[in-house]
Amino acid sequence: MLRRLYHEQPASFAFTPANLEWAQGQITKYPEGRQASAVIPLLWRAQEQEGWLTKPAIEYIASMLGMANIRVLEVATFYFMFQLQPVGSIANIQICGTTSCMICGAEELIAICKELIAPTPHTVSADGKFSWEEVECLGACANAPMAQIGKDYYEDLTPEVLRGLITRFREGEVPRPGSQNGRYSSEPVTGLTSLADHKGKGAGHNGSVQRALDIGETVKRIDGTEVALNLSWIRNHEGGAALAEKPAAKTAKPTAEKTAAEKSVAEKPAAKMVEATPVPLAALPVGEGKKPESLRGPRDGEADNLKEIEGIGPVLERLCHELGFYHFDQIAKWSDEEVAWVDQNLKGFKGRVSRDKWVAQAKLIVAEGLDAFRIRAKTNDY
Ligand code: FES
Repeated sequence: MLRRLYHEQPASFAFTPANLEWAQGQITKYPEGRQASAVIPLLWRAQEQEGWLTKPAIEYIASMLGMANIRVLEVATFYFMFQLQPVGSIANIQICGTTSCMICGAEELIAICKELIAPTPHTVSADGKFSWEEVECLGACANAPMAQIGKDYYEDLTPEVLRGLITRFREGEVPRPGSQNGRYSSEPVTGLTSLADHKGKGAGHNGSVQRALDIGETVKRIDGTEVALNLSWIRNHEGGAALAEKPAAKTAKPTAEKTAAEKSVAEKPAAKMVEATPVPLAALPVGEGKKPESLRGPRDGEADNLKEIEGIGPVLERLCHELGFYHFDQIAKWSDEEVAWVDQNLKGFKGRVSRDKWVAQAKLIVAEGLDAFRIRAKTNDY
């Protein structure tokens, strides 16, 4: 299937402050020079924030990670989990159309989607609540036919069951995921022949279904509360308490002094098991070097467009402003010592000044003007 950017795009994208802090924390997981490794989690977070992946979001993330826009676009267009067009506000229903599901009735499920949602895939329903698409095998072939709705699987579907599920979602319910024909998981439909006592544990749901019921994540978008929900789920389930108590030893360091960030991680060991705690911005190292001269605000109230410098995007430009740098001529004057200081103080973007040759670029802009710079920038001639 041809995957390309949607024909209508919003003017801009920015992470919310909480998502921005989370994203910067993700970037710190990777060694210097390997920040591009964070591209998938950042794209996913942007999609969770907006519902779908917009062109400004792709460019924003490219800028955050110091990647060319085309490299991020390649990732976004390759993986089907990224939605490149608006989706329904409640859910985008993904019907598996691969062999097992197709043999077992996927076409009838698609017919229901066409009837209840929209005649064509990737089209938002008239009430704005749903969209649908056919996807490749989702790995639940033993429970065919199935669909992914939000983050959970609904399995052993029939057209009427799917019709009922869509109706219930539309009315604000979140139906129980998993098998819809009474199977516990993927045991034979004729019944269990071994390990037949599994229903003695818990409420009679398999682990995935029970978890979905407990934390209600099915069609809920990531907004940060999932960390606390996961933590509480781990603590409330068999083996969870023991797991929750152990990681403190793993995270403990032999050195005596811990930073405030490390103490905070050590106090929340179970949260670390499900999601790395972002490093608070204040905990980032200040490093060596000398702080360049800064300004309280732009001269004459108007800053230069620092995004003209290759490697500076909206986030880095904002960070520069926070540090008191608004003009090309300020950057053009930085000495090696000053570059080292700024490199250390770009929260989550350490090393970008030297890596992307900001000073050389700024000098060129100051000496020859923006038009000449733009021509030379196309071939990195600076
Ligand atoms: S064929 Fe549908 S889940 Fe594998």
